[in-house]
Amino acid sequence: MSFTDVLTITGGVIVVFYLLKLLWTCWYGLQEYFVSEIWKVDLRRYGQWAVVTGATSGIGKAYASELARRGLDVVLISRCGDKLQKVAKEIEDQYGQKTCTIQADFTDGHSIYPTIAKELQSLDIGILVNNVGMTYSDHFAYFLEIPDADQMTRMVLPGMVERGTGLIINISSQVGIHPQPLLSLYCASKIFVTYFSQCLHAEYKSKGITVQCVAPFMVSTNMTKNMKVNCLVKSTSGYVREALNTVGYSSYTSGCLSHALQVRDGRHSTQSHCQLLQYLCNISSSFLLSYRAWFSLYSCQIRSVCRPFSLKSYKTLQK
Ligand SMILES: NC(=O)c1ccc[n+]([C@@H]2O[C@H](COP(=O)([O-])OP(=O)(O)OC[C@H]3O[C@@H](n4cnc5c(N)ncnc54)[C@H](OP(=O)(O)O)[C@@H]3O)[C@@H](O)[C@H]2O)c1
Repeated sequence: MSFTDVLTITGGVIVVFYLLKLLWTCWYGLQEYFVSEIWKVDLRRYGQWAVVTGATSGIGKAYASELARRGLDVVLISRCGDKLQKVAKEIEDQYGQKTCTIQADFTDGHSIYPTIAKELQSLDIGILVNNVGMTYSDHFAYFLEIPDADQMTRMVLPGMVERGTGLIINISSQVGIHPQPLLSLYCASKIFVTYFSQCLHAEYKSKGITVQCVAPFMVSTNMTKNMKVNCLVKSTSGYVREALNTVGYSSYTSGCLSHALQVRDGRHSTQSHCQLLQYLCNISSSFLLSYRAWFSLYSCQIRSVCRPFSLKSYKTLQK
């Protein structure tokens, strides 16, 4: 076998490898953001009740409403009783689902959990949305005051394992992937949520539990000073509708197509193929590599074809 043949085969193998990788990547992207729009997972299969923390505004409220719209009864947890009653009434009137409200401040430490556990014990909890989170741009917080997702999970997971089904959605953030100075604890707690979700998913998926980590960019809420919605900044309802569609398709998601396109890299994603920008990078790198492989192959062949012609004979031909 000649050197040219070896290069030809190597080039061919590289091209096929990258084309397959590209196809695989695109297939996952299509599934997560396009197929999921058509074939949605029926969320009622996880159980009758969904628990949402931080449910009176922003992303949490949107999750509570969307889950009710999809036929689940909802437990709403937040600090302010009046807001809880208002949101509960809105959901009951609009979707005809049952609601239950629990007033709790997650910065009060472990003292709140016995009360929450008592309220939840008689309910068939299928879904938990660990949404509550806070930045400290307008007030500072001690490490121990930062809400943790693991206590709520510890509370509902045993019941889910017993029933062999359940869905836990943990709201992380893209700042968990890209460290932000001056938001150190916020970033650190978000990467904790990301890793915690991914490990928990790996541990419990064989028991029928799905743990999904949702890592948004900008969503227009009180936390982001209700920024104007545009193609990069999503509305809460639009964002959550798309994010809930990805359940069953991905255990780590940016939540919506627009945010997936803004992801620079997916280092902390077990399913980095879910990041759309990566698709584009993969596509371009695949094409580049394919091009290089073909080019080396092609130039080898040209050289072997042209070998009889020296520069001298070329000049002679020109004459
Ligand atoms: N918005 C974004 O662009 C964005 C981006 C990435 C990640 N996230 C994440 O998404 C989650 C929700 O953010 P958001 O923007 O929707 O926030 P938000 O609009 O400020 O809503 C926060 C919700 O949590 C409740 N809450 C706040 N502190 C609480 C506490 N200590 N105990 C109990 N409830 C509390 C609030 O209700 P009460 O005031 O009635 O208690 C409210 O319902 C957070 O985990 C955040 O890190 C948001």
